[in-house]
Amino acid sequence: MTQDEMKQAVAIAAVEMIQPSLESSSIVGVGTGSTANFFIDELAKVKHLFDGAVASSEATAERLKSHGIPVYDLNGVNQLDFYIDGADEFNDKLQLIKGGGGALTREKIVAAVAKTFICIADETKQVELLGEFPLPVEVIPMARSHVARQLFKLDAQPVYREGVVTDNGNQVLDVHNLSIDAAVALEQKINNIVGVVTNGLFAERSADVVLMGTPNGVETLR
Ligand code: 5RP
Repeated sequence: MTQDEMKQAVAIAAVEMIQPSLESSSIVGVGTGSTANFFIDELAKVKHLFDGAVASSEATAERLKSHGIPVYDLNGVNQLDFYIDGADEFNDKLQLIKGGGGALTREKIVAAVAKTFICIADETKQVELLGEFPLPVEVIPMARSHVARQLFKLDAQPVYREGVVTDNGNQVLDVHNLSIDAAVALEQKINNIVGVVTNGLFAERSADVVLMGTPNGVETLR
């Protein structure tokens, strides 16, 4: 099974998981990235069962609209039962690193609102210790160097993701050389640096379920 086939398998499994709960008034939170794109394409097949979606990025909004799925502003949505998104890494506590695609802030906002966060990922994203994947940190542009200096003090190596501007008009530092055993504390510490919008650790709000694609099928981790 290729990695794309595993991504498609978890996308199908996620639709199967939420389908029984979908109603004509349901709004679904949708993440960003290649796995989320497989999910969008599968979700489109049952679009008659729900009202619309909230998108975690402009790219996701465009893909949803291209399928004829209405996209709503989160501010106008009272209830979001599900958020479905990929991850760059996940551990056995279902804590994640996200933001490889630069959409971490909106992803974190939609995940915070949703009752259930279903993470969809192939088995290559499973790790014992988070941090091999560089941790993305979204920063206000004028604070980039200040934030980088503070991150160096944590013995980490921030690298400016050149040429990338987030959907919020900000910049991204990718933090290398982290070995994260206290994910909640590190998430809070980095978020406390002035100029940080948010970082890609999803530890305070971890996933509720990970649907993990393997060559033998989809495993459900809770
Ligand atoms: C985007 C993300 C993605 O979920 C993450 O990068 C995984 O992407 P993919 O499914 O393409 O491997 O956090 O900001």
